Amino acid sequence: MIRVCISGLGKTGKEIAKAIMEQEDLKLVAAICGATSDKQGKDLGEILGTGHTGISVESSDNLEEIIFKTKPDIVVDFSTPSAALYNAKIFSKMRVNIVIGTTGFSKFALKKLFVLTRQYHNGIVYAPNITLGVNVLMLLTNLASNILNNYDFQITEVHHKHKKDAPSGTAIKIAAEIEKGLKASGSENTGSEIPITAVRAGGVVGKHEVMIIGEDDKIEISHESFSRRAFALGALRAVRFIKGKSGYFEMNDVLDLKRILMDYVEKESNTFNKRYLKYVKKTDHSLEIWA
Ligand SMILES: NC(=O)c1ccc[n+]([C@@H]2O[C@H](COP(=O)([O-])OP(=O)(O)OC[C@H]3O[C@@H](n4cnc5c(N)ncnc54)[C@H](OP(=O)(O)O)[C@@H]3O)[C@@H](O)[C@H]2O)c1
Repeated sequence: MIRVCISGLGKTGKEIAKAIMEQEDLKLVAAICGATSDKQGKDLGEILGTGHTGISVESSDNLEEIIFKTKPDIVVDFSTPSAALYNAKIFSKMRVNIVIGTTGFSKFALKKLFVLTRQYHNGIVYAPNITLGVNVLMLLTNLASNILNNYDFQITEVHHKHKKDAPSGTAIKIAAEIEKGLKASGSENTGSEIPITAVRAGGVVGKHEVMIIGEDDKIEISHESFSRRAFALGALRAVRFIKGKSGYFEMNDVLDLKRILMDYVEKESNTFNKRYLKYVKKTDHSLEIWA
């Protein structure tokens, strides 16, 4: 049984808490809110709109005590960048692993997260892009930029009007994947920043679109989350992955999509070779006549 604590009970954290409680191999043992939050002391069920859970929501002011008392293996953090970084230091010191879905970190703050894992030998998954779908989009974009290295790339992301950071962490990651693909192709088309347009409007859960535009044609790759359930499913995978590990990881380590792609390419080429041999054997006679 993996013991999990949730930190941040906003729109996404609440959905993840519900999903954790539905799993047979996970046990939600604690829930943390901000120091000035009116959620403090309430039963988690009251916040989630479910039945009584017996888990009292506690303030981030008492982290050490909460961790000591409830002994989680992993904390899932969907709070704010400053709270996540501050709390990550305490969790790391107490050798608790963390899945961080919170976005909006500076490059320096990300380095600090990395350093925590080296200093305290705990495990952190930093996942600004937690859904499987958006990770598939990144892989496809990486491949496309490697092949279409003389095309122009444009990213547009749309999120609800309450989202604080812009551009989204995922859009920044997509731009990095495009850069990687271009560099690996030997293209000189690198170095200039990939343009990102960020739209904050209405209640959009999350949409990312990559336009790849050449002189004569255009490809569009896009992903849209219909509900926060997609984030919860990604968080569950990250939790199971980081149990008992130490080191700094990202969602591409959790999902291992590049290995899946390599296995697929290898299988496909073996099947193609077998099919081709069969064909040659069958048509051998007619080929002789043709020659
Ligand atoms: N990785 C992904 O794919 C993904 C997907 C969705 C969202 N996100 C990111 O996840 C974060 C949260 O998103 P959201 O939409 O759920 O935002 P939200 O609704 O604003 O929730 C953030 C929550 O954090 C709580 N909080 C503040 N200080 C805290 C502290 N010290 N300790 C614990 N909790 C604290 C806030 O309220 P209280 O003060 O009442 O506790 C609030 O409920 C954002 O950075 C967002 O960009 C990432």
